Amino acid sequence: MIEDRALDRVWLAGVRSQFPALAQTMNGHPLAYLDNAATTQKPEAVIAAVSDYYRSANANVNRGVHTLGQAATVAYEASRATVGRWIGAAAPEEIVFTKGCTEAVNLVAATWGRRNLGKGDVVLLSHAEHHANIVPWQMAADATGAQVQPVAVDEDGLLDLEDLRRHLIEGSVRLLGLKHVCNALGTVQPVAEAVRLAHEHDALVLLDCAQALAHLAMDVHEIGTDFCTMSAHKAYGPMGIGALYGRFELLDALPPYQGGGDMIRSVRFEKSTYADLPNRLEPGTPHVAGAVGFAKALDWLGGIGVEEADKHERRLATLATAGLGEIPGVRIVGKSKVKVGIVSFVADWAHPHDLGTVLDQHGVAVRVGHHCCMPLMERLAVPATVRASFACYNNEGDVDALLAGVAAAHRIFG
Ligand SMILES: Cc1ncc(COP(=O)(O)O)c(C=O)c1O
Repeated sequence: MIEDRALDRVWLAGVRSQFPALAQTMNGHPLAYLDNAATTQKPEAVIAAVSDYYRSANANVNRGVHTLGQAATVAYEASRATVGRWIGAAAPEEIVFTKGCTEAVNLVAATWGRRNLGKGDVVLLSHAEHHANIVPWQMAADATGAQVQPVAVDEDGLLDLEDLRRHLIEGSVRLLGLKHVCNALGTVQPVAEAVRLAHEHDALVLLDCAQALAHLAMDVHEIGTDFCTMSAHKAYGPMGIGALYGRFELLDALPPYQGGGDMIRSVRFEKSTYADLPNRLEPGTPHVAGAVGFAKALDWLGGIGVEEADKHERRLATLATAGLGEIPGVRIVGKSKVKVGIVSFVADWAHPHDLGTVLDQHGVAVRVGHHCCMPLMERLAVPATVRASFACYNNEGDVDALLAGVAAAHRIFG
């Protein structure tokens, strides 16, 4: 056991030292960055990959006959292949680069949704969904006459499989939208079981994997999902790049999302025709440096070990949960047995925003608010929570800083 912990410390020191942003002080304290569910910091390897791309490989893709343009295209396509391999896609063409999860959901809702939904059809979404997996479906429903219906979750945000079954039996459900991991509470959803139930009733499934990517080894075939959405910046990659995975035959049947260069086969004023996948769904100049950085981030995470990282983050979250439990008036929100390293809490003596401000003064960066999950907050009867979310580089010092900050807030407000 002691030997294990010593190894953990060596592993952690090696990981942490690769993140330059963590070496700074904030408001006179060492930065304790615990807002990783919003976005993670970036390792040197990713920063270097993006900067090297601009220093030596920058050119537009898919167009140039010149060598640099071809090299940029090769780098872009190699990045697509890396993302595909990471989630077990059958072919790189099943990966469409987007700005992130939000754009990926919008793409499916605006293309598959508008083409396939009609009056009386139902899109089911868990009551815990992020706004990014609610609002695009409401827009598609408004345009098609379909309905969006919530599936119940318990007080830990865990999907109620019986309620899902009931909805699937009752309605003409065309698609289930579900996040793999709850960004507000950390709850891991029973996704394979939900997919199996949905498929039994001929409904497709879109998994929002924004929070799963950095914490869980994922295999889209094992889970059986039809679509899955990702954001690189939540998994040590750059902002402004993410991806949509879709089963080839589903993506191949989608109409274009947006029109422009690169997504066409031919353009005439009478009529244009469209390129094959994935170009058909990627109009205009893509974020090549972002894609390169995304792939580097996944390679980097694979190198340190996603399961190792998750185990470490859960251990820190358990320590934080235990410590917070000793501070009077603090209540943990979301106590599911299966969670990633996210701890959400409220205090009966202060509003989360006031707590967040005191923590910031102690150098502790947490997220406060509804976490883009207003329906979930309403279900849990809390206006907001304080959320500490752990990444592979956090250490026990970060947990101590969080607990000291909350204790200081208690002395002020309690
Ligand atoms: C569960 C979940 N879905 C979707 C998103 C949206 O991701 P992005 O803002 O990168 O598009 C987030 C971001 O917080 C999230 O946590």
